[in-house]
Amino acid sequence: MTVQIKTAEEIKKMRIAGKLAAEVLEMIAPYVQPGITTDALNLRCHDFIVNEQQAIPAPLNYHGFPKSICTSVNHVVCHGIPNNKPLKEGDIVNIDITVIKEDYHGDTSQMFFVGEVSEKAKRIVRISKECLLKGIELVKPGAHLGDIGFAIQHHAEINKCTIVREYCGHGIGRGFHEQPQVLHYGKRGAGMPLESGMTFTIEPMVNVGKRHVKLLDDGWTVITKDRSLTAQWEHTILVTDNGFEVLTQRSDENF
Ligand code: MF3
Ligand code: CO
Ligand code: CO
Repeated sequence: MTVQIKTAEEIKKMRIAGKLAAEVLEMIAPYVQPGITTDALNLRCHDFIVNEQQAIPAPLNYHGFPKSICTSVNHVVCHGIPNNKPLKEGDIVNIDITVIKEDYHGDTSQMFFVGEVSEKAKRIVRISKECLLKGIELVKPGAHLGDIGFAIQHHAEINKCTIVREYCGHGIGRGFHEQPQVLHYGKRGAGMPLESGMTFTIEPMVNVGKRHVKLLDDGWTVITKDRSLTAQWEHTILVTDNGFEVLTQRSDENF
């Protein structure tokens, strides 16, 4: 499959799906507190998406994924499955939301602090967010995917952090995961040049320790092999004629 250029009609729908995904994160934010289970967060998001947004939670049954959102706590890199374990003071958790509205996907994730967290936790959350922003800033027609990967990898590594290589950003549209693969590492000038009308995610996973990961026996949960802390942020991006539009922008952000 090649990389699709979205039409004006498709872009309208991507804007709507992106906004809905962002609104789920805004809705759930106040509930992320010590003592709540990730199952309870999942249920609230599911009900909001289905009943309030009249949309579809894309993860549910996606290749057999059992829940409507991903919740990845502390050393969980991505694809954490909501469960009945309460979050505790000091945890950091990524909540990853993907909704489908009128056949189009919006995909976004952010980190949350559970109560007061350590300086180390704050630092990895900040650096991973900076990695995402540095990648987004480079998006414009003619830029190469490798420029984005390089900027993200460079920012992680000058801060003595590492980038997970096994998972990447992705084209998005009617499909949850479309071409191209958006690597969070690479070389300037490498990879395909961007064109106006492309839509894809950028979603760097940044570790405090070594970059290596391990897949748990549940077939989904990805953890850092050395159990070090890890953090991830994700946005869905449109390439515009002169730069980018963040389709999943929240009200606390200003691109
Ligand atoms: N939302 C994830 C991503 O950013 C994918 C989750 S797939 C699932 O691409 F099945 F785990 F939900
Ligand atoms: Co994604
Ligand atoms: Co996602």
